[in-house]
Amino acid sequence: MRKILVVSYSQTGQLTKVVDSIIEPILNDEHIQVDSLTIKPKVKYPFPWPFFKFFQVMPESVYMKKVELDASTLVTRSTKNTTNRTDIENNDYDLIILSYQVWFLSPSLPISSFLQSDQAKKLFHNTPVMTVIGCRGMWLTAQEKMKSLLTNLQANLVDNIVLTDECGAGFSFLATPLWMLTGKKKPLSWVPPAGISDQEITQAQRFGEALNQRLLKDSNIIETPVMKGLGAVKINEKLIFSEKIGHRSFKIWGKILMLLGPQNSFRRYTGLFFYSMFLLALIVTIVPITALVIKLITPLFKKKIARQKAYYAQPSGE
Ligand SMILES: Cc1cc2nc3c(=O)[nH]c(=O)nc-3n(C[C@H](O)[C@H](O)[C@H](O)COP(=O)(O)O)c2cc1C
Repeated sequence: MRKILVVSYSQTGQLTKVVDSIIEPILNDEHIQVDSLTIKPKVKYPFPWPFFKFFQVMPESVYMKKVELDASTLVTRSTKNTTNRTDIENNDYDLIILSYQVWFLSPSLPISSFLQSDQAKKLFHNTPVMTVIGCRGMWLTAQEKMKSLLTNLQANLVDNIVLTDECGAGFSFLATPLWMLTGKKKPLSWVPPAGISDQEITQAQRFGEALNQRLLKDSNIIETPVMKGLGAVKINEKLIFSEKIGHRSFKIWGKILMLLGPQNSFRRYTGLFFYSMFLLALIVTIVPITALVIKLITPLFKKKIARQKAYYAQPSGE
């Protein structure tokens, strides 16, 4: 019997849908046991997000500060039945599917907190991991940080699947925050809907089919990517530089905001007010200028950009 563990957290349910679609072809197979572990933060994050609450979590997300989590139970799933179990410490999975969303160019706080827990240490040690990201479209830096969390756990990253918002990099700058702040995917008629398209989510079943075949081919440990040639990721080279600048700015502001005071303190809110003004100014001035400069200089750095694209596309490839 092959065993896989699905670790997930989702605020709107989007990432749950993605993962469910991926594992759909496996759930029917009697030779594969699928366990699920849902991460539950002790203090629930609001959805939709009040404006300042949304930015409140930036410093802690970027610095991957641990938040308290509720104890989770393992659920063994199949299309026929589901059973709750408590033997959570067992570390004998053939693969862990670790799904996460990106918060401020970093793995979301519930997931980065879980990955720093003793429970994760036991579950992930020496285990092959396939990351599944569902986000707006800027995930490169988050995945670099994820790699370091997995290295600390001595886990082995074998695949990475990424699904991003259908409206594209430009519009998603507006559409996704609007979704997060209003709870509506299309609150304005002239802005395209936020979120990953239903079609992309359905098509994610191809990853489950490939995984099913690989798991049943032999009983060897999965050491190499299974998702090669399936379009598991798509690298938008225009975002590589923007992510680097954005993350640097988050780190500087994150440090200042944390020094000002803890979340919900008056001093943190005051800092957040100035930060949000700065961010707005940045989005309407520096972001378009940088995009233009990047467009102009891209042809001069073709080789370097190609190398970076190949690097970020690892291990599954475009
Ligand atoms: C606080 C916060 C920050 C976010 N920052 C990013 C980001 O930096 N890059 C990105 O691509 N998406 C970002 N998103 C979008 C999420 O990655 C994700 O697409 C969305 O929250 C839906 O995920 P869910 O499955 O938890 O509902 C952010 C969302 C939230 C709530």
